[in-house]
Amino acid sequence: MAKRIMILGALGQIGTELTEALRKMYGSESVLATDIRASEETQEGPFALLDACDKRALGELVDAFRPDEIYHLVAMLSANAEKTPVKGWDLNMDSLFHVLELAREKKVDKVFWPSSIAAFGPASPKDPCPQNTYMDPSTVYGISKLSGELWCRYYHDQYGVDVRSVRYPGLISWKGEPGGGTTDYAVEIFHEALRSNAYTSFIDRDTRLPMMYMSDALSATLKIMEVPAEKVKIRTAYNIGAISFTPGELAEAIRLVRPGFQLRVAPDFRDAIAQSWPAVLDDLPARMDWGHDPKFGLHEMVRDMLTNISAHS
Ligand code: SER
Repeated sequence: MAKRIMILGALGQIGTELTEALRKMYGSESVLATDIRASEETQEGPFALLDACDKRALGELVDAFRPDEIYHLVAMLSANAEKTPVKGWDLNMDSLFHVLELAREKKVDKVFWPSSIAAFGPASPKDPCPQNTYMDPSTVYGISKLSGELWCRYYHDQYGVDVRSVRYPGLISWKGEPGGGTTDYAVEIFHEALRSNAYTSFIDRDTRLPMMYMSDALSATLKIMEVPAEKVKIRTAYNIGAISFTPGELAEAIRLVRPGFQLRVAPDFRDAIAQSWPAVLDDLPARMDWGHDPKFGLHEMVRDMLTNISAHS
């Protein structure tokens, strides 16, 4: 029987594309997409409205659909969680606990849950930031990610829940839009470049962050979920790197395709968040253990973003 997969947060930036990819791989009927809202764009295939903080509703869906794997992609991102810290903590942690507990109780084979560069903090090494190092996140989102990593390892070690995780850098995509994150500037900039050939960044010109194009994020996610359990040696979360750039460097790359593109900066509290994160990730363990192998460089990513956004708008 085909593998059955349930996705939480299927309409978010990652979920939109991951749902599509998993449906292509395993067949639409094998992938249950869930989200707290419905959308016209809900692709073909089963969909259920679900508040991931409602453990009973989640449990009922797990009983009805009997997933072999759960991808838990629900989160309040860094900038939004700073505005409503308790809500951010509750959403990020309650939903994770529910998924871990249900995976344990109902014997779900595998769980994917994303961590983030936000799990690092101001005292973590910046360039490069190793897999194992001092971690002192200063945002609610980052605290929830670091705590979540430790809980994932706990459920793996104590209860044998096969939960796998990566620390995503800022994710850049043209299909699903991010919302409420610090790295969102690197998506907005493309839409504005095409609209007005100018963009005002809330991240300072020289603030460098690790970033990744969505197709590389999807292949890393699918890869870590496919390899045999013994290859996943790190049960907190793996650093996964790809590219690192500043708003200034991104603007220069955009200018090669859109001459005259203007970058202005008006840094706000999100720049302080960005400055507390690493600039470059050292991801050797992910490359060695399960073959992380990103393909998109800065210029390929810029060309692909501009081409696809203009073709689809
Ligand atoms: N992209 C996220 C954010 O900016 C980081 O994981 O909050």
